[in-house]
Amino acid sequence: MRILLIGATGKLGAAVHKTLARRGHDVRTVGRSTGDLRHDITDPAGVAALYAAVGRVDAVVSAAGDVPFKPLADLAPEDYLNAFHGKVLSQIDLVRQGIQHVAERGSFTLITGVLSREPIPAGAAASMANGAVEAFVRAAAIEIAPQRVNAVSPSVFTESLADYGDFFPGMPPVNLSDVAQAYVRSVEGAQTGQVYVP
Ligand SMILES: NC(=O)c1ccc[n+]([C@@H]2O[C@H](COP(=O)([O-])OP(=O)(O)OC[C@H]3O[C@@H](n4cnc5c(N)ncnc54)[C@H](OP(=O)(O)O)[C@@H]3O)[C@@H](O)[C@H]2O)c1
Repeated sequence: MRILLIGATGKLGAAVHKTLARRGHDVRTVGRSTGDLRHDITDPAGVAALYAAVGRVDAVVSAAGDVPFKPLADLAPEDYLNAFHGKVLSQIDLVRQGIQHVAERGSFTLITGVLSREPIPAGAAASMANGAVEAFVRAAAIEIAPQRVNAVSPSVFTESLADYGDFFPGMPPVNLSDVAQAYVRSVEGAQTGQVYVP
């Protein structure tokens, strides 16, 4: 399949890229300052330019989405807006604009995370963003068929424990190789409206 992968140089994206490429897919990579195509998905004009540049694809796969982490008392309205723009609207726009550019039975796979269902201190904006994306996925699935849309909602990555492990005491981490398999399931499978927890 011809696959557009946003965030391919990140921790998650690199693992997804390796896995999809090994399975024989033709992966076009995207980042703001890295990848084959350089576009910011928080900018609707950037998303439009991205789709215009890449042409028709079979799958759009997102491994990008920034959210601020701060104690609730320090989270200002603009922090929630930044989380919403950085992870929610950006990924919604990949679907909204991508419908015209993805194959009839193609798919979208978005990234969320464990905080939609297992909150941690300083994670309220991330929880909000992850929950919003998961709700969008379920809603969009019933309207875009036969195109499909799913989310992958992992715990903290084993490979990120050195950076973020202190935020997730006692929570089981997940290996990036297992998270990448959830993307394979979404891209190559037949389900839609799913939130995969690898
Ligand atoms: N790390 C964890 O343990 C963990 C656990 C569960 C869920 N997640 C979620 O997984 C996602 C990826 O996390 P990560 O740790 O792999 O992040 P990361 O290492 O910071 O990588 C982010 C990637 O996305 C690209 N990117 C970021 N913003 C972009 C934008 N606006 N437009 C286009 N490309 C953009 C970056 O490339 P450029 O810099 O070139 O733009 C980079 O390739 C995040 O949404 C995160 O919340 C992470």
